[in-house]
Amino acid sequence: MSTTTISTSTSQNASRKKVTTLTFRQKKERGEAITMLTAYDYPTAMAMDKAGVDSILVGDSLAMVVLGYENTLPVTMDEMLHHARAVARGAKSALLVGDMPFMSYQVSVEDAVRNAGRFLQNGGMDAVKLEGGRERADAVRAIVGAGIPVMGHLGLTPQSVHQLGGFRAQGKTASAAKILLEDAKILEEAGAFSLVLESVPARLAEYISKQISIPTIGIGAGAGCDGQVLVTHDLLGLFERFTPKFVKQYAKLHEDLNKAFTDYIDDVKNKRFPAVEHTVEMTDEEWEEFERLSVLRPNSLEKKR
Ligand code: KIV
Repeated sequence: MSTTTISTSTSQNASRKKVTTLTFRQKKERGEAITMLTAYDYPTAMAMDKAGVDSILVGDSLAMVVLGYENTLPVTMDEMLHHARAVARGAKSALLVGDMPFMSYQVSVEDAVRNAGRFLQNGGMDAVKLEGGRERADAVRAIVGAGIPVMGHLGLTPQSVHQLGGFRAQGKTASAAKILLEDAKILEEAGAFSLVLESVPARLAEYISKQISIPTIGIGAGAGCDGQVLVTHDLLGLFERFTPKFVKQYAKLHEDLNKAFTDYIDDVKNKRFPAVEHTVEMTDEEWEEFERLSVLRPNSLEKKR
């Protein structure tokens, strides 16, 4: 089997130690919040690694916020690996988690182990994430058995959007909450090192976080989780189609991009760009020589004929 060498950036944040699954566990024990964000490209991964984020998820949200699909289902393993490699080149210290796309782990445990392996071998990732509870316990056990750290994902699991009847909060009834708690314990027992809890009631997320020894990473699950993750395009105000209620926007990049593009178009149309400072110079001496050469050239060509 061929392997791809991933060279990671060494030019920044040289002093920060590599974050590992052990760091996750220690942070939970110390009560320190774990920070996680999604990234899909080199410059974004580099910027967040430099900012000190603990973990970067190459999420299958790629399908929606970068590739423009309606949901996460169409994105493939090859597309995920392409973006994982870009992120791995940009981030040196953060724990890198590759999100297993729809149909890369549901058909068989063998598929699940093989595709999880590809994230480490060909994508430069340190761990993988997959969605689901008890129905994925065998896959989690087998992947962990192959030496690959697994992050679980419970609550709103976007790959089951059609089964769930839309992107809606989960675990809001007593019986649904009980199943969620059981699933969290099953994933812990199967060897997952951490667990994303998406769109579940804050009191339930906090309760689950206290009941299991592995760290929970919340998204729309309140402040009682051991860490937090957001889709970076939501945080940056870059994804305009919709913004979930639980998102805090730290920038309005869609508006900034729009302004930059309209300013550029206006400058070009009105001959304000390029200006002198954007222009390559040539000395008078070279120019005069060029004129002399180009005047001589037609004559010399004629002489040859
Ligand atoms: O794909 C993704 O970005 C995710 C996060 C929402 C946790 O799974």
